[in-house]
Amino acid sequence: MQVIVTENFTESCKLAAKMIADVVRNKPDARLGLATGGTAEAIYPFLVKEYQEGKLDFSKVSTVNLDEYVGLAPDHPQSYRYFMDHNLFNHVNIDKKNTYVVGGTGDVEKNLVDFRRKIAEKPIDIQLLGIGENGHIGFNEPGSTLKLNAHLENLNESTIKANSRFFNSMDEVPKQAITMGIGDIMSAKRLVLVATGPKKANAVRGLVLGDELDCSNPSTVIKVHPDATVIIDRELADMIGYKAE
Ligand code: F6R
Repeated sequence: MQVIVTENFTESCKLAAKMIADVVRNKPDARLGLATGGTAEAIYPFLVKEYQEGKLDFSKVSTVNLDEYVGLAPDHPQSYRYFMDHNLFNHVNIDKKNTYVVGGTGDVEKNLVDFRRKIAEKPIDIQLLGIGENGHIGFNEPGSTLKLNAHLENLNESTIKANSRFFNSMDEVPKQAITMGIGDIMSAKRLVLVATGPKKANAVRGLVLGDELDCSNPSTVIKVHPDATVIIDRELADMIGYKAE
């Protein structure tokens, strides 16, 4: 696992966007694994900019997202389908038919079957990841075991609290999500995880400095991925005492 320390969060986002853009430039029909949330929201404008400047073509690209809240319809402003449309897909020349965010409403079991089938269709060339304050990736929450395949996850109190910033109150935050499993994430050819801010310090310390795979910090599994890059800014690196070699 490679750790890159940038000057600031904006540079981290630029770098992650460049890594994704380079994959698409080298392989125009690349399959991208995408994430949502505050971190991803700051990365996508750099991909949109590359497209607007004529440096990136999404016409053959396909995407699959990590997760979706249970109970939120695609047109709900906090659903991850809505997030993806508004932060990326509506602003680039991607064919929406080639984008996939698992459904959060209707028959959850059926949605899961559809999600698993979709994941199995084609390998992901690069998977973008954020990290939860509790170390989750996708919505794989800390626990005594981690699930390999796409599944229904009960969200932890800390995740509900952290994500309540996007809702009017904590009560409105869905309590469950459908997420790719750890095995699905690890099957991507490349992983790029971006983290910033003091609230992520504990999880990132375990990921970057720890020497163990720790189910109470699910992000640590990416240590054993053959092509994983973790991008953190100088402030976070200093906070956790990470010194680049
Ligand atoms: C989102 C996802 C989550 C987030 C994580 C960090 O699709 O899978 O793992 O990446 O919760 O969220 P932010 O960036 O909002 O701190």
